[in-house]
Amino acid sequence: MKQIYFDNGSTSFPKAPGLGEAMGKHIDYNGYNISRGGYSKAYSLEGEIIEAREAVCRLFHCDDVKKVIFTPGATIGLNMVLKGLLKRGDHVITTSMEHNAVVRPLAQLEAKGVLWSRAQCDEKGRLDPQEIRKLIRPETKLVLAIHGSNVCGTLIPIEEIGRICRENRIFFCVDASQTAGSAVIDMQKCNADALIFPGHKALLGPQGIGGMILSRTMAETMEPLFSGGTGSASHREEMPELLPDKFQPGTLNIPGIIGLKHALAYIEKEGLVSMMEKKKRITDAFLEEVGNMKGVRLIGLPAGDDRCSVVSLDFVDQDNAEVAFRLENEFGIMTRCGLHCAPHAHKTLGTFPQGTVRFSFGCFNTITEIRFAAGALNRILCG
Ligand SMILES: Cc1ncc(COP(=O)(O)O)c(C=O)c1O
Repeated sequence: MKQIYFDNGSTSFPKAPGLGEAMGKHIDYNGYNISRGGYSKAYSLEGEIIEAREAVCRLFHCDDVKKVIFTPGATIGLNMVLKGLLKRGDHVITTSMEHNAVVRPLAQLEAKGVLWSRAQCDEKGRLDPQEIRKLIRPETKLVLAIHGSNVCGTLIPIEEIGRICRENRIFFCVDASQTAGSAVIDMQKCNADALIFPGHKALLGPQGIGGMILSRTMAETMEPLFSGGTGSASHREEMPELLPDKFQPGTLNIPGIIGLKHALAYIEKEGLVSMMEKKKRITDAFLEEVGNMKGVRLIGLPAGDDRCSVVSLDFVDQDNAEVAFRLENEFGIMTRCGLHCAPHAHKTLGTFPQGTVRFSFGCFNTITEIRFAAGALNRILCG
């Protein structure tokens, strides 16, 4: 049976063409370390890592390669920002749509005296930025917002929120896990002090690599959550202040960075905007197909510019888990069923505790696959 992959919100698959080969070549022929060896191979590898930082900067409109901190993924970056910034008595505002990668670190911090408010989104996952403004108090240090919902795809207006944060001198962190590589994100325009991105979703890189881009003031204020050797200022027992070293102790995932560099070069070659347009066509076609299906409840917004390519459905007369099971077993269609690590988002959307079946599309999906999936859903719903 042909397999169709609609779980790109979890991780993209396939990855950028040639990714395995690029990483394999690096490991087999160039697997040195950086910042630790005084020989030419180490220096030239360092140059490649800088090229990866430059590609990240071009994608997110960042003005300084040193502000790019590589992390093992979005979860680690979010933990580093939250736990490195917030102290007892500090107040943080998030939306009601956040992923557990934000919710769980904040639950830990709340138990240690950090104050946390959630700005309520509506039943489609939309946020009126004024809801953020209403929650600001003198102790508010950080606003953290998911950019695109990993449950229903609704986009949060990060530029407006960034403006509110700037006016009130509050740090702003954007979780771009579902939109990095799926939306145009300009760090300057959205006044983001921290932009968190995974490399393995729409950026088409390997698992185990991601990053955060920090503003100067955020980097100066945050404490490093992890410490250790950096190959710089080795005479000191404290972490160096210079970037990216302050937040990058230990040997980096260099094969992962080489893979990410390869994937970013592919995105640049194809063009981010044309890849976005393709994904939008695929998503819109699916939304049109399921729009009039009896027994299907679309969770979140219909086709439009205020959503990304994550679509959640609730099957009114059937068990969601059974629909997902049949999609794979009878038709080879891989989706994800359940709460998608975001229980509070489901409470906001009215789909807790049953969850949804999530279809998340990538740039390699086709209209033919969408038509096939619609046919499969019709067969499942009819019998
Ligand atoms: C919105 C959001 N934030 C954070 C994460 C965590 O990303 P990672 O698993 O790459 O650390 C995810 C992953 O699905 C996500 O969708």
